[in-house]
Amino acid sequence: MQVFASKHPLIQHKLTLLRDKRTEPKKFRELVREIAILLAYEATADLALKPAQVETPLAPYNGAQLAEKIGLVPILRAGLAMVEGIWEMMPSAEVWHIGLYRDERTLRPVEYYNRLPVDPTVQVCLILDPMLATGGSAVATADILKRWGAKRIKFVGIIAAPEGIERLSTAHPDIPIHVAAIDERLNERGYIVPGLGDAGDRQFGTG
Ligand code: PRP
Ligand code: URA
Repeated sequence: MQVFASKHPLIQHKLTLLRDKRTEPKKFRELVREIAILLAYEATADLALKPAQVETPLAPYNGAQLAEKIGLVPILRAGLAMVEGIWEMMPSAEVWHIGLYRDERTLRPVEYYNRLPVDPTVQVCLILDPMLATGGSAVATADILKRWGAKRIKFVGIIAAPEGIERLSTAHPDIPIHVAAIDERLNERGYIVPGLGDAGDRQFGTG
């Protein structure tokens, strides 16, 4: 199981503000954006490099550039706030949206949007979704990406339940899971406890 729960003090500070029920949608979106950048920094520490030569004003320099094309794959809706900040850090990334919602009764993911082209266009996919609850949405997205032909996939989330980690790492043991926290449990409605409530609703001011 490749599970990384960040202990970074900046992430833990921001995560506490994010969980606070008094945090309004504008601040909530800012915090998701900032935490996502910090988590992506950790999650991309092993990206491959290739040599790149440039001329400084003084001399030639044998440097490096990213060797692989990266795809950012936010799961709609709540994954959206994780995209922009990470994209600024890696502007050559492609963004491929996957639309899934969780049926409130069965807790199973229902797919409603997927415009992936026939052949894969990226070498590394970062699945972005703040919440890994039952794990159904993350597993469904990884299934879609693997059917597409994605070779290397990482999951970047904010809060995970032990149940979601177990499910994703059992279905896809090759996918590392990067989160800011692993919480206690799911409640009877499939919400992470203590969690932060409904990430989509808190981000978009709905619900
Ligand atoms: C939330 C969340 C995940 C999913 C996690 O989305 O953003 O996608 O639930 O739950 P799971 O691990 O049990 O699948 P939701 O279905 O509420 O849709 P939304 O983002 O559009 O609000
Ligand atoms: N989706 C959310 O937005 N929050 C949870 O706690 C679980 C699923």
